[in-house]
Amino acid sequence: MDDQLNNEVRAILARVETRLQDEVASSLPFLDIAAKHIICAGGKRFRPLLVTLCGLLGDANADATRAKVRPHSDSRERLIDAALVVELTHVASLYHDDVMDDADVRRGVPSANARFGNSVAILVGDYLFAHASRIVAGLGADFVRIQAQTFAALVTGQIAELRGPSREDDPFEHYYEVLDGKTASLIATSALFGGLIAGLDAPQVTALERFGRKLGMAFQLADDLIDITSAAAGKPQGTDLREGVATLPVLLLNQSESLTDKLLYERILGGLAEDEIPIVLQALQGHPVVARSREIISEWATAARAELATLPNTPARAALGTLCAEAASRAS
Ligand code: IPE
Ligand code: IPE
Ligand code: MG
Ligand code: MG
Repeated sequence: MDDQLNNEVRAILARVETRLQDEVASSLPFLDIAAKHIICAGGKRFRPLLVTLCGLLGDANADATRAKVRPHSDSRERLIDAALVVELTHVASLYHDDVMDDADVRRGVPSANARFGNSVAILVGDYLFAHASRIVAGLGADFVRIQAQTFAALVTGQIAELRGPSREDDPFEHYYEVLDGKTASLIATSALFGGLIAGLDAPQVTALERFGRKLGMAFQLADDLIDITSAAAGKPQGTDLREGVATLPVLLLNQSESLTDKLLYERILGGLAEDEIPIVLQALQGHPVVARSREIISEWATAARAELATLPNTPARAALGTLCAEAASRAS
């Protein structure tokens, strides 16, 4: 990343880091600990980074001069607020998701449900979302509306996954809809918030939202592949199999000509016993569906990158291009 841009991004993200803890502080010691538990465990801060880079794209009508890397101090503060909103919304959804998935590890530490129980984990998720709502109010009514729509889309995606496809649904279409709702919506909103704060013109803001949506698809597809291929993600491996959720590699099994593949697909959908999980994981890891999944993830990342073409040609745009490649390659 360009040095000047790198310094600016680091400065903004450092402020986000401090404020994340300050914003959720509670005078009730137990709540204070429970609210900071997953925040302090780290995470990639991918959504704050996206807000920041999109917010530093620069004025669409100005030359892409290096001076444009530094935004007006007002928009800098707004970028920090927007980054807090998307990260707090994300972390809130993680508290809830780990209850749904009965996951015992998150960000390399015991999940909130494992440490404090389901009821506390759900309530703390609500508490974090409340703080996200408070902060977004400072950004204006448009941001509040977008944030509300995004959270509704996220919940819709989670419910659709929980319910599974109905008989008449195409399983692939259902899967993509789930991903679009539960993950791509918030990643698209992160890009959109940045674009709005950067003062880009309407077509550029729309392009940026489409960029975020496609990047979000690549991001969740990669997450789903990592659930099968890697044990080092700071969260349990094989959760989707355990929950009977058919993700990309599993859905590809059903498209195979081979009867063995189709039988494996049916077996996964029928629900696996705990002692079958390592065996199925191993079978999938050595299967050509992994390579095909990587290709599909790359296609989404490339499509995301293509959406950047109409945006100001600044160092931030180059960094967003790199982010697409990284989002795809984390699953390789
Ligand atoms: C995890 O998101 C949930 C998904 C939408 C895949 P991240 O992979 O961004 O998790 P953290 O924030 O780095 O922990
Ligand atoms: C849930 O997807 C994404 C959210 C909206 C939180 P996953 O269930 O795959 O997320 P991880 O793998 O637990 O992070
Ligand atoms: Mg999960
Ligand atoms: Mg996952």
